[in-house]
Amino acid sequence: MVSAKTSLFCIIGDPIEHALSPIVHTELFKRYGIDAVYLAFRVKKTILKDAVKALRILGVKGFSVTMPLKVDIMNYLDVISETSVLTGAVNTVKNTGKELVGYNTDVNGVIYAFSRAGIKVNEKRIVMIGAGGAARAVVAALYTLGIRDLIVVNRTLERGLELAKHFKDKVNVKVFKLGSREAKDATLRCEILINATSVGLRSNEIVIDPSLLEGKEGVFDVVHVPPRTRLIREAEARG
Ligand SMILES: NC(=O)c1ccc[n+]([C@@H]2O[C@H](COP(=O)([O-])OP(=O)(O)OC[C@H]3O[C@@H](n4cnc5c(N)ncnc54)[C@H](OP(=O)(O)O)[C@@H]3O)[C@@H](O)[C@H]2O)c1
Repeated sequence: MVSAKTSLFCIIGDPIEHALSPIVHTELFKRYGIDAVYLAFRVKKTILKDAVKALRILGVKGFSVTMPLKVDIMNYLDVISETSVLTGAVNTVKNTGKELVGYNTDVNGVIYAFSRAGIKVNEKRIVMIGAGGAARAVVAALYTLGIRDLIVVNRTLERGLELAKHFKDKVNVKVFKLGSREAKDATLRCEILINATSVGLRSNEIVIDPSLLEGKEGVFDVVHVPPRTRLIREAEARG
């Protein structure tokens, strides 16, 4: 039962309606007898600074951060974990009462997904489409798994180049513009394809021409709503 002592946790992002975290956390609070509620707040980039100030002042115990705030949020925190520094993005913030501490749990999520699928990424030709916060977590995970070369394809070339610059001492990232001849060639020839864009989120859209999915060893999609995106279905249909 909710009382004046109940702790508040939340997720911030824009859009936010698709977020599964309130359902998952509410279930876990119930299961483990934790006196807390977990809500979702739509926060645009333009009001992020004020929103973080409000969460801090109101003593919110912790919050998840989703697109498009995972990179910008780092400007408003007191401490950033090592994985978040490597990633250049934060998806989880803990309020210790004195400080807001940023973590990135997406990195472990990606590592877990590859190991569960039994896919070894070492020495593989990998193309990742996307260059936002989730994409950075994927690169950090691939680096942790031993990858030193990667092709990134993004709609906005500059953002891809920014990501390459961020990882320049760790991963050799080549960047191509989505839709370019080079991007299509690389996508066709790669063994592992990763979608780290939001394309397919609550829609039947697909970020590339499905014919480019032939002969892949693995296809990974960061979009989790729906659980099987069109990209995954088209890849499965091609074996
Ligand atoms: N499975 C999970 O646990 C998990 C965890 C984290 C995130 N996610 C999902 O990952 C997705 C991306 O999140 P994010 O935080 O990385 O967002 P973000 O920082 O806003 O980045 C979005 C990325 O998608 C690209 N994009 C958006 N619309 C596009 C379109 N119409 N055509 C081509 N590219 C497009 C953007 O390209 P530009 O640079 O050109 O704008 C950018 O690369 C979301 O769907 C989110 O729900 C899932």
